[in-house]
Amino acid sequence: MMLAVLGGKPIVPENSFYTWPNVTGAEVKSLVEKFRSLSFSNYKLDSDVTIFEKKFNEYIGSKYCLTLNSGTAAIYSALLACDLKSSDNVVIPAYSFFSAATAVLNVGAKVKFCDVDLETFNINPENLNEQIDENTKAVILVHIFGNPCDMDQIYECTKNKNIILVEDACQAHGATYKGKKAGNLGDIAAFSFHISKNLPIAEGGAITTNNLRLRDKAAKANMFPNYIQDKYTNLGHNFKFNGLFAAVGIERLKNIEIYNQRRQENRDYLVDKLKIFDFIVPQKITEEAVSSNTMFVFRIDHTKLGISDSLVDSRNRFMLALHHEGIHCGVWLDKTVPEMEWFKQESSLYPKAKILTESTIYISGIHYPNSKLQMNLIIKAIEKIANNCDELKKIK
Ligand SMILES: Cc1ncc(COP(=O)(O)O)c(C=O)c1O
Repeated sequence: MMLAVLGGKPIVPENSFYTWPNVTGAEVKSLVEKFRSLSFSNYKLDSDVTIFEKKFNEYIGSKYCLTLNSGTAAIYSALLACDLKSSDNVVIPAYSFFSAATAVLNVGAKVKFCDVDLETFNINPENLNEQIDENTKAVILVHIFGNPCDMDQIYECTKNKNIILVEDACQAHGATYKGKKAGNLGDIAAFSFHISKNLPIAEGGAITTNNLRLRDKAAKANMFPNYIQDKYTNLGHNFKFNGLFAAVGIERLKNIEIYNQRRQENRDYLVDKLKIFDFIVPQKITEEAVSSNTMFVFRIDHTKLGISDSLVDSRNRFMLALHHEGIHCGVWLDKTVPEMEWFKQESSLYPKAKILTESTIYISGIHYPNSKLQMNLIIKAIEKIANNCDELKKIK
């Protein structure tokens, strides 16, 4: 069978996959009713924003929740709550979303990067230990693709050092480490409700924390000043969450466990069935962790695929072939964060992060309501490419 990328027929019929997010009638009803009633101000104590914060808090198991208008605003406000000085530094994994790094720059502190683990794709505790110095005031723990960081080792690294642990849980709604939910594993955490996430509400974000002082500081940063309370002493921003989105969020939260469960089943199925292809190395989830599986991400082991000596060339050829067979897939990050314009650092300083940018592919279709039916199509497409591996060399 000729590969689709070389002119053959794609193995996956069009429209075989459902899109994300799944939209329910109850969500649409709630949104329209709120919009019609014009009662979506978030100033009122009984507003949907307040109700959503309460419910999200309950879901995460944290004491305080503060909604904002994006995950980026949540990371930024969490850092503002940390009272960082210009001489302070914050350690961030080199393989992560750039928001965490830009948030550190925006609060006027310094960024220090840390390499990641090639198996879990998360911050490498050994390297973290090397990066921490006397000016380190915070570490941003990115639970990448919903895979919780190795918290015990991280607690060990930061013990008695007065370092604030900020979780970037933007991809980790419902993920757990030793039974405890992400968003509850550090001092303060940031979530995103972007449409692509496990709790997708168009745009939005939240902070969760068990520390009232951090919550109040973040709240102050997140709102423009209140005359009665602080007489314009703080500058503040306007990062308020949208009341209409909160109404959708309240409904959507009811289904998150069902949706996350399906992602888990689909991932487990893929990992099991793809074992026969030694060139596919899925992200490792340790026994202590349950991932929220935002995406299914794997490395291509180019030595096993055997079509090119180059990591990136092997990955790109394989990915293009997969895409042409009808599987939605892509590269989540093609450059490490330290290489980006703001930092211009050598990627050789973070070799594992560099390998991930050159060898990983994500497949997003493991979400609800996709099931084994769609997972079998992914497997068939990979099988077809594997059976015609040499043909990959012909791709221009
Ligand atoms: C790991 C991570 N951090 C932060 C963000 C930023 O969230 P938002 O897009 O809501 O600003 C994202 C979202 O793309 C993300 O995936």
